[in-house]
Amino acid sequence: MNTQNQGTPDNAIFSLFSGDNAEILANPFGLLAMMRSVSAVMPLPFPIMGPDHTAWMVTRMQEAVQVLKDQAHFTVDASSIGMEGLFGRDSAEADDAATFFTNKTMLTVDEPDHRRLRLLVSRAFTPKYIESLRPRVQEIANELLDSVQEQGQMDLVADYAFPLPINVISEMLGVPRADRDQIRVWSEALAHGLGVGKRDPGVQAHMRAFGEYVAHLVAEKRQHPAEDLISQLIAIEEGGDRLSETELLSMITLLIFAGHETTSNLIATGSLMLLDHPDQLEQLKADPGLVSSAIEELLRFNGPATIAGPRFAIEDIELGGQQIKKGDVLFAILASANRDESQFTESEELDIARTLNRHIAFGQGIHTCLGAPLARLEGDIAFSTLLRRLPNLRLNIPRENIVWTFSLNSRSVSSLPIAF
Ligand code: HEM
Repeated sequence: MNTQNQGTPDNAIFSLFSGDNAEILANPFGLLAMMRSVSAVMPLPFPIMGPDHTAWMVTRMQEAVQVLKDQAHFTVDASSIGMEGLFGRDSAEADDAATFFTNKTMLTVDEPDHRRLRLLVSRAFTPKYIESLRPRVQEIANELLDSVQEQGQMDLVADYAFPLPINVISEMLGVPRADRDQIRVWSEALAHGLGVGKRDPGVQAHMRAFGEYVAHLVAEKRQHPAEDLISQLIAIEEGGDRLSETELLSMITLLIFAGHETTSNLIATGSLMLLDHPDQLEQLKADPGLVSSAIEELLRFNGPATIAGPRFAIEDIELGGQQIKKGDVLFAILASANRDESQFTESEELDIARTLNRHIAFGQGIHTCLGAPLARLEGDIAFSTLLRRLPNLRLNIPRENIVWTFSLNSRSVSSLPIAF
């Protein structure tokens, strides 16, 4: 596909991939609404792949769901159709990304490998098992608020939204407590490293260090197995041909990474959205039973994953009135589909009591988020505990001073000072 394409919107949308336009990062919704009104599927110059490349932005719900569900026409694995992935096959960048993340996870392979990999860990993420973690997650949330309660203020990101999910996933996996701050640094670098920022040598170094850390952790657990998910995966790897060494390392990296970043963002962005909509905040405080529908609405309205991972067309196909060619790359813009006015009444409004809410913040089809039950449990406990214990919650800096950060497919606030 070349760049001589019809009607691309303002290149501002590219900042959802590069993070270089602070205004769009903070609020992409006007631009997304404009794109949706123009076309369900539109081409965007996509220099990440090379100077003359474009990618298709899928803006409306019906087409986004099709791209995510129709495995006969769209793959997550460009190499399966003899094409290069986002970064080219022979570059050093491709090697780095492949080593640590992109090549061998369930998120980046098709069936049957996808099912094999997902089944190995799916029992640890069933709603029933996840519900059994409730008391421990509650305990972690309480401990975090205990240590700030007296101060009357905190950074909701650093003191609450980040440590809660990383502590939970680390305990599930058996990652030592002392390593968790370092993991945050690495996984932020990984998120950037898989986007445009990966050309930065500092990012490469972080990615390598993260990879080495995971390898070291696995070596430790081989010597001293414990009651945790990493030890279980090692036993599976050693026990037969269901999991290769590379897949084992990629799986652990994916679970650490996916297991905290997005959920931190749900808690942080969700809290900010409630502060931005005082009537909704009051409604939730008055009726804590609304927390589940509130979480679904926060996921829809400003969910952590702006865009799904890349899909590649397996053959020529028409989609949303556009001619897609074999090998073309498509991005389902979840944040746009979730505001599709043909799917949601008053789609640009936050309504925590919304009942019909078929959002796709966790994706769709075979790659639908494995961790959704965990994210929902953590969200439930995080919001309920916060509002119960700190009912006078308010922003502690001017609203315009809030800075949004960017990562691969996610946007969030980097810090959220609040007083209570
Ligand atoms: C609010 C929090 C979260 C959001 C918004 C979110 C979002 C997503 C999305 C959109 C996908 C699909 C991506 C695609 O199709 O390209 C996905 C997949 C995935 N997520 Fe999450 N996620 C969250 C939390 C978690 C947690 C807590 C875990 C726990 C380990 C997790 C693990 C995964 C895994 C393993 C996949 C790949 C599933 C597959 O390929 O079969 N996520 N997530």
